Amino acid sequence: RITPVILSGGTGTRLWPLSRETFPKQLLPLAGERSMLQETVLRVADRKRFNAPIVIANVEHRFVIAEQLRALGIDDATIVLEPVGRNTTAAAAIAALVESRRDPQGLILLLAADHVVQDTPALLDAVFNSLPAAVAGRFVLFGVQPTAPATGYGYIQRGAGETDVPGVYPVQRFVEKPDATTAQTYLDSGDYLWNSAIFLLPAAVFLQELERLAPEVLAASRTALDAARADLDFVRLDEAAFAESPSIAVDYAVMEKTALAVVTPTDCGWTDVGSWSALWAIGSRDGSGNVLIGDVVAEDVRGSYLRGEGQLVAALGIDDLVVVATPDVVLVTRKDRDQDVKKLVERLRRNG
Ligand code: GDD
Ligand code: MG
Repeated sequence: RITPVILSGGTGTRLWPLSRETFPKQLLPLAGERSMLQETVLRVADRKRFNAPIVIANVEHRFVIAEQLRALGIDDATIVLEPVGRNTTAAAAIAALVESRRDPQGLILLLAADHVVQDTPALLDAVFNSLPAAVAGRFVLFGVQPTAPATGYGYIQRGAGETDVPGVYPVQRFVEKPDATTAQTYLDSGDYLWNSAIFLLPAAVFLQELERLAPEVLAASRTALDAARADLDFVRLDEAAFAESPSIAVDYAVMEKTALAVVTPTDCGWTDVGSWSALWAIGSRDGSGNVLIGDVVAEDVRGSYLRGEGQLVAALGIDDLVVVATPDVVLVTRKDRDQDVKKLVERLRRNG
């Protein structure tokens, strides 16, 4: 059986002003009735196929997360709390340490808490078909057909031929977040897939690879876990030790460098709902191509995402805009500029 690990440490700044540090996007019901964290947990809730999950999150979010799991009737999760965010290499290291201590042969399935998967059976088929590759010591990536030269994703170049596991292919190259021109050449070439940020890893082998590629992250994570405190149902990592870890994404630290990666292409309706235009794309649109949520009145509006929470959004004669109103902030932007909301938030943060 596989141990699912849900990484829930991001702040989702591109979905500001709804997504805030105190209440990030994965904890919000942005794309349905349940939060994306809840949807993710449910995807791997079949205990005949999966062990109890490990959720790794910032300490600030512990009660919301515990409450959201309880609401699903899930009472066997291990919730590991990070005193500070040290990015996904450290979080993955913690997960691999926890798992390998329980089961030296254990496999972990890393999942981001902020993705929509419309076809869960297709994803689970891909995962279980790939199991022999992970048991044989490979890091299985799940690749999604790219549809645009997006610069916020990792790109996986599929190697020639299949591995000895049907449906699993060698990885020729992994490139995290290429620039726009490079991304376009990858898209045109037809032999690159997007990295879905779902990874099936043999925990012990992953730790060996960290020892080689990110020894400081591993050392800090190990010390932080050894000195961790149990508190209610939480495992609190030691702050001083964990803070010592370099902050680097697993895609840069490991996936770009390792020779152990293989890729399973999957068509599971995967979307990274990282931005307002992504939510518009998966939302239910009216006859004019608008997604309207909450208190909204729209007249002669096309192709827009309008959301009113705590105040009314009244729109007239506009096209292709995003308007998100919350009690204290109104965001207005063009749909094609929404990647830059991140910059706006950074500027606000700098100005206090
Ligand atoms: N626990 C924990 N701690 N989780 C974290 C941390 C952290 O410090 N930082 C990020 N995460 C979680 C996020 O909440 C998210 O669920 C997941 O890890 C991925 O992190 P992101 O910060 O969202 O990464 P990204 O979107 O820039 O890029 C990754 O995902 C893309 C697909 O959405 C990469 O894996 C790309 O290669 C990939 O294409
Ligand atoms: Mg992301």
